[in-house]
Amino acid sequence: MESQVRNDPVVAVAGATGAVGAEFVATMDRRGFSVGKLKALASARSAGRTIAFRGQEIVIEELNEYSFEGVDIALFSAGSGIARKFAPIAAKAGAVVIDNSSAFRMDPNVPLVIPEINANRIAEHKGIIAVPNCSAITALVPLWPIHRTNRIKRLILSTYQAASGAGAAAMEELVESTRASLKGEPYAPRVMPHPYAFNLFSHNTAIDPETGCNEEETKVIKETRKIFEDDRIAVGVTCVRVPVLRAHSEAITFECENPITEHEVRAILSNAPGVKIVDDRARNYFPMPIDASGQDDVLVGRIRKDLSDASGHSISMFVAADQLLKGAALNAIQIAELLPQRVFA
Ligand SMILES: NC(=O)c1ccc[n+]([C@@H]2O[C@H](COP(=O)([O-])OP(=O)(O)OC[C@H]3O[C@@H](n4cnc5c(N)ncnc54)[C@H](OP(=O)(O)O)[C@@H]3O)[C@@H](O)[C@H]2O)c1
Repeated sequence: MESQVRNDPVVAVAGATGAVGAEFVATMDRRGFSVGKLKALASARSAGRTIAFRGQEIVIEELNEYSFEGVDIALFSAGSGIARKFAPIAAKAGAVVIDNSSAFRMDPNVPLVIPEINANRIAEHKGIIAVPNCSAITALVPLWPIHRTNRIKRLILSTYQAASGAGAAAMEELVESTRASLKGEPYAPRVMPHPYAFNLFSHNTAIDPETGCNEEETKVIKETRKIFEDDRIAVGVTCVRVPVLRAHSEAITFECENPITEHEVRAILSNAPGVKIVDDRARNYFPMPIDASGQDDVLVGRIRKDLSDASGHSISMFVAADQLLKGAALNAIQIAELLPQRVFA
């Protein structure tokens, strides 16, 4: 039988003090998500502090194996190690876990869901639903309606990833190191592997010595195939961390099975859920992280023929999205909104 949650669920946020955790709470509030009771969970470092939710001060509790008793929905954003250990415990206690980490994304028993693409997979969950990688979500929301119309057989994308994608401490490091740099003071990086102020570097995840791809790139390749249910799609990715505080951008070029024009792409995307076209050639105004920050849509612009493909099968575009929202918290709350509810008389 399909599992159901209460219509006034007890919601636990594991990682409530983090960059994504704060957006879980703000997004539930903003969207009027019904919450019977909120439990805020984090490490022992944060236990006893409070967060505000709908006029209440919620005391943060240390996450442990008893945290999920009586919980209906457990929103996880505390890293993959914590998810691996505690998500199965939460699911066993009867909660539906929606996890933002990479721990379960490629597990064949775990739906990997972007509601605009495969909301139908939510009902198949066995206690855990995974939110895809933020770079994957940013690319796939606008690519899906194109893929459905004219199959994308090859995709090349380069990311320009913000500090917020690496959490609250990385945002702080960007601000502090920029301040230090402007004052001409030395700054030793603590979170990032390289100087972040006035610099950029290859994504700060481990490189696979065989493929030369870092983990972020490998995630985008594998997750695209799982979400699109298309093992043949050829994907090439380069992931780069840029000194932007919030919202990821991506340069995307894709090749379709049949010829496609920029006008067709614009027409498809003008009706696509979760997409906003920002493509003003006269004003040279295109998607920017500063405009993407704090809003829900993936901004899409620079839509143009890829001039390197004379056959007319390829299009290039530039996108930006708030990866703390659509790339993480918003996507998770959208999933929670679609969970079947148990309605009480
Ligand atoms: N940032 C993004 O844009 C983004 C996007 C998609 C997915 N994600 C994923 O979401 C997760 C969190 O990312 P974030 O950016 O929000 O990181 P963050 O700002 O560093 O927050 C990490 C959270 O995890 C908690 N935590 C750490 N160790 C813990 C422990 N031993 N027990 C309980 N809680 C613990 C922290 O609590 P304390 O404050 O007490 O340490 C904090 O609340 C990661 O898996 C990340 O890959 C992030």
